[in-house]
Amino acid sequence: MADQARLTDSPVAPADIAALIRGRRTIDRFRPNELPDTARVHEAIELARWAPNHHRTEPWRFYVIGDRTKTAIIDLNTRMLAATRGDAAAQAKRERWQAIPGWLALGCVPDSDPVTAREDYAACACAIENLMLYLHSAGVGTKWASGAVTREPEFLDLLGAAPGEYCVGLIWYGYAMRRPRSQRQAVEHIVHSLD
Ligand SMILES: Cc1cc2nc3c(=O)[nH]c(=O)nc-3n(C[C@H](O)[C@H](O)[C@H](O)COP(=O)(O)O)c2cc1C
Repeated sequence: MADQARLTDSPVAPADIAALIRGRRTIDRFRPNELPDTARVHEAIELARWAPNHHRTEPWRFYVIGDRTKTAIIDLNTRMLAATRGDAAAQAKRERWQAIPGWLALGCVPDSDPVTAREDYAACACAIENLMLYLHSAGVGTKWASGAVTREPEFLDLLGAAPGEYCVGLIWYGYAMRRPRSQRQAVEHIVHSLD
């Protein structure tokens, strides 16, 4: 029993992981032109894929987005917004997106079995949380974005996505310009204790 306990010992104190989880909040404004080292981003991706993953399908594909692809995504989003909300809104969004320094995307190649495909999405979501928590531990803020552009075939082409692959999220990252705020309802509202 003592050996078993040692096998599952955590290297991180519960209070530290609690602070990490509570401290990771969505960042809505980043300091422009400041990025963490590429090695930090690659380590975040390395850790992301240790997420729980039923059947170990490893359904995720990580796209580290450089300036050329970022510009192409922003152009696409600007065209989409201009058509639906007009030029002024599209240009305002273009400027906001151009100021976002770090861009990643996570694609999911879904399994042909519908239950596994659903679980693949869940695994990808866990992977994103891993990635965001690790970056947060290094002082790097993130935002998971899933706007309409991420569902456009042209966006998936820009990533070089495989047939059938969809985008789980764009992950923006960088250093926060302001302290994020986020609330949750009282935990009693969501806990149902059963006999
Ligand atoms: C699947 C998913 C998609 C999201 N897409 C967007 C998005 O498109 N735009 C956005 O502002 N936030 C998006 N978010 C971030 C949520 O808005 C954010 O997590 C929520 O406001 C709670 O804030 P917190 O992360 O600081 O607790 C997304 C989060 C998830 C899990």
